[in-house]
Amino acid sequence: TVHAAETDVLVVGSGPAGAAASLALSALGVDNMMITKYRWTANTPRAHITNQRAMEVFRDLGIEQQVLAEATPHELIGDTVFCTAIAGEEIGRILTWGTHPAREADHRLSSPSQTVDIPQTLLEPILVRNATERGTQTRFSTEYLSHVQDADGVDVTVRDRVTDTTYVIRAKYLIGADGARSQVATDIGLPMEGRMDIAGSMNITFKADLSAHVGHRPSVLYWVIQPGSNIGGIGAGLVRMVRPWNEWLIVWGYDINDEPPVVDEAAATQIVRNLVGVPDLEVEITGTSLWGNNEMYATHLQAGRVFCAGDAIHRHPPSNGLGSNTSVQDSYNLAWKIAAVLRGQAGPSLLETYSVERAPVAKQIVLRANQSGREFGALFEALGITADQSEDEMRATIEERKDAGPAGVEKRRKVTEAMALKNYEFNAHGVEMGQHYTSQAVVSDGSARPAPTRDPELYFEQSTVPGGRLPHAWVGDSQRKVSTLDLARYDRFTLLTGVAGEAWADAAGKVAAELGIELETVVIGPGREVTDLYFDWERLRGVEESGVVLVRPDKHVAWRAHRLPDDPQRELLSALAKILGR
Ligand code: FDA
Repeated sequence: TVHAAETDVLVVGSGPAGAAASLALSALGVDNMMITKYRWTANTPRAHITNQRAMEVFRDLGIEQQVLAEATPHELIGDTVFCTAIAGEEIGRILTWGTHPAREADHRLSSPSQTVDIPQTLLEPILVRNATERGTQTRFSTEYLSHVQDADGVDVTVRDRVTDTTYVIRAKYLIGADGARSQVATDIGLPMEGRMDIAGSMNITFKADLSAHVGHRPSVLYWVIQPGSNIGGIGAGLVRMVRPWNEWLIVWGYDINDEPPVVDEAAATQIVRNLVGVPDLEVEITGTSLWGNNEMYATHLQAGRVFCAGDAIHRHPPSNGLGSNTSVQDSYNLAWKIAAVLRGQAGPSLLETYSVERAPVAKQIVLRANQSGREFGALFEALGITADQSEDEMRATIEERKDAGPAGVEKRRKVTEAMALKNYEFNAHGVEMGQHYTSQAVVSDGSARPAPTRDPELYFEQSTVPGGRLPHAWVGDSQRKVSTLDLARYDRFTLLTGVAGEAWADAAGKVAAELGIELETVVIGPGREVTDLYFDWERLRGVEESGVVLVRPDKHVAWRAHRLPDDPQRELLSALAKILGR
């Protein structure tokens, strides 16, 4: 075979998964190439809610400020409205994405970063630009066709769509981040569970100035309950902010068993006017598309030197806003492992932990998102809405919640209950933050995960039990304030200890030299690298002052020791050798 190009890692796709993989690889100095089918990045807004974990990844990769500069800020994303039309009656609101004062505290205590909103059309260019600037060889209009792998690498056949020529790229590893219709996942025969196209949705993007209707209750999401809003779709009709307050996206459902609807300009304009509730609203329709809701995940993510990430391995509706966030984190989990194996710092078995760690996450988020969509049913039921009602009947049953009699009391109680359930879609902080890994790249210290004190889907509780994410606390000195997460950089392993544990630094130096890896010790305490400014770290660290928390490049705790042992070097070496598959 003639190899037209060679690279260490070939990434297929420039969406959130692929572009994040390339950026992470380039940040680590790994030679990589990213190919993508179209001449540019996403052409519709699509994913937008960007949660704290994804923002932490961006922070670590040096692009958090760039994302914040383009994003709609945290304060403007949370006054989520449920109504009969935007200009119609309001049924109620939920403060979403951690904007309730009580949830704001949970968010701020567990991360240096905030949940914001950035449409995929703006996020992808940031990822692609930074990846390319830092070393990625990016090829647009280049389509993955097939691959063949052998013991040392992968021959990938691609087609240049501009010149209609086919050539072969030789790579040591291949990452298929080619979306929900992934050809790479099909070619390696990833085992999938679930179903595709279980409900029909249409997207309508439009421009209209709605500030008068929404400026006083700023949110990303306005949910509309009208005739038809319980058919197909993502739970109810949705008017979603793309840019405040003049660019929007509507998601409206259709029955997937019927002929696909024709959404021409007139039909789209009518849907917009219905959902906004202004019959003569001036609207500029900028695009329409139909898509299917999926409930499918891969139970294994790798075949030899080929991996899949993103929607290729988890396909689900946008409920809970987990798609792009999880895709970014898949790649963040994978890239440092590939780098470590390429450098000979880890055995190839480390690569298998990608699948072991991320497949359960794929399953969890696919099931969560679909359940959230279905839980809108409780609100329809509470309001007394059924599938076969006429428009007038539906209006009358919604009206009944105003009745003074016992039926009204009961209806109001049920609406309150149904609205509370929506926190599992819009405030599932535990799902967003609580990913915990059990694999060979995590060495248990024998302690179990602490039992949750609150609902683990809604609430995240920080701990240093190996497998979980390093807790966030502000540390620093008189000149600077950084997060503990900032101490553990992506290009190395990090040991966090206290003043009484300073002997770990010497042990770590020797272990790093022996294994040929980057391993940094940070002593937290007065007069050391950083101080525990608010005394939060002491409460969170879960080990004694002389103990240690070993953090992986992706910020998950790899191992910990409760106190300084007689031979810290031996214990650290043993833990790291296991983690790295040496
Ligand atoms: P993504 O699909 O973004 O990217 C795939 C990439 O692979 C693209 O760059 C494509 O060009 C490339 N590619 C595909 N085949 C290729 C081939 N053979 N060769 C080369 N390149 C190839 N999520 C959400 O949270 N909120 C939302 O509102 C929406 N809305 C929404 C609407 C629509 C219409 C879709 C299709 C999806 C959404 N999503 C969403 C889902 C969200 O967009 C999704 O979770 C992420 O984009 C997943 O990122 P990936 O990088 O995995 O795939």
